[in-house]
Amino acid sequence: MEKQQILDMVTQYCKERHTSREWKPGDRINYAGRVYDEEELCNLVDASLDFWLTAGKYTEEFESGLGKYLDIPYCSVVNSGSSANLLAIASLTSPLLKEKRILPGDEVITVAAAFPTTVAPIVQCGAVPVFVDIDIPYYNIDISLLEGALSPRTKAVFLAHSLGNVFDLKTVKEFCVQHGLFLVEDNCDALGAEYEVNGVYQKAGTIGDIGTSSFYPAHHMTMGEGGAVYTRNPLLHRIIRSLRDWGRDCVCSGGQDNRCGHRFDGQYGTLPQGYDHKYVYSHLGYNLKATDLQAAIGAAQLKKLPGFVERRRENWCYLREQLRDLEEYFILPEITSHSVPSWFGFMLMVREGTGISRDEIIAYLEKHEIQTRALFAGNIIRHPCFETMEEGKDYRICSSLEKTDKVMNRGFWVGVYPGMTKEMLDEMILRIHESISGSHTSR
Ligand SMILES: Cc1ncc(COP(=O)(O)O)c(C=O)c1O
Repeated sequence: MEKQQILDMVTQYCKERHTSREWKPGDRINYAGRVYDEEELCNLVDASLDFWLTAGKYTEEFESGLGKYLDIPYCSVVNSGSSANLLAIASLTSPLLKEKRILPGDEVITVAAAFPTTVAPIVQCGAVPVFVDIDIPYYNIDISLLEGALSPRTKAVFLAHSLGNVFDLKTVKEFCVQHGLFLVEDNCDALGAEYEVNGVYQKAGTIGDIGTSSFYPAHHMTMGEGGAVYTRNPLLHRIIRSLRDWGRDCVCSGGQDNRCGHRFDGQYGTLPQGYDHKYVYSHLGYNLKATDLQAAIGAAQLKKLPGFVERRRENWCYLREQLRDLEEYFILPEITSHSVPSWFGFMLMVREGTGISRDEIIAYLEKHEIQTRALFAGNIIRHPCFETMEEGKDYRICSSLEKTDKVMNRGFWVGVYPGMTKEMLDEMILRIHESISGSHTSR
């Protein structure tokens, strides 16, 4: 039997079973969802039939394709965005970075209005997260607080581009350069966003030392589970690959032997001369690799990514325009200057003094099948996972977190994913308007 016969059947199956049903009023409007066609399914089946399973031809295709899209030389696929963040921070603890490396007790500046696994790796790697407040209506770090967060132990700044809106990269990068700090961009919610540096637009995630992506289904593109870490720095790339792949010193990919021709003639540590380089470990590492099945889906998604990003921007702009008349009730989101966001969601903050309840609005929208989301952890410090953490020792708070708490108490967001049609957006707009008039009449 020819593989193509199977793939033709898969194409047929996908068209019959997977082609999404038209949305009709009353159907659920999720905040995000997978957008795919027969190409993803065929790639997945193709990878399954090859049965290579671990990183292979699709992983290579995806890593080089993502690198081209981002215009960055080094890209490593991993099994989730959380793994990407762990790898990014763990790589900064490498002894190969000498005095710049993060040691236990060193500090990393971040925000408390965060996704949990942006903060978790800082703690997991023995460092101390230092929290500052965010800015409304950008939902990113308030850069005026950076200097106040600095201490002799600060080694890095690690921030996400919240909901696809790029943080003030120019100021944060200059701060990092001035103080000799690493900058890690959690780009999980902003793939495709751009930022202007000296008249040139660069992709978000490529301006700091390391960028990370998530390919969980809610994100700009998906592999089911998956992520990536990217950098321009060859040393960081070497460390990232080593830590991702068990801590190995050797750069051969799985199943490959003796690429450098020196497999049996090196001297490493106090190992015997010529010890097999494939089993020499320069780090105490992890195994965070993804499978070729995940990369196969990613390779097909990557071709659609520019279109996805455009649709997200269009949907966000449409919501922004159509909700403009509610500005008296909601703080509407704004774009950071010098940036072209790649929106993950549309954030709404109920204004104080309007007598309107955020919780009632959410309840109304959810009752009408419109899915809403909180800005991730709201304030991560308020979660049970921080109960055993000691302020001043395990973490530091460097400013009032008043705006973080405001967003936690008064904010929510709705989706802009590319699967949303104009009818779905119009339904959301209608229900958001109704939720406001409902809140009024009930008072
Ligand atoms: C900003 C941010 N960072 C990291 C992650 C973690 O990604 P994953 O779910 O792939 O582990 C997410 C997930 O949604 C996220 O939004």
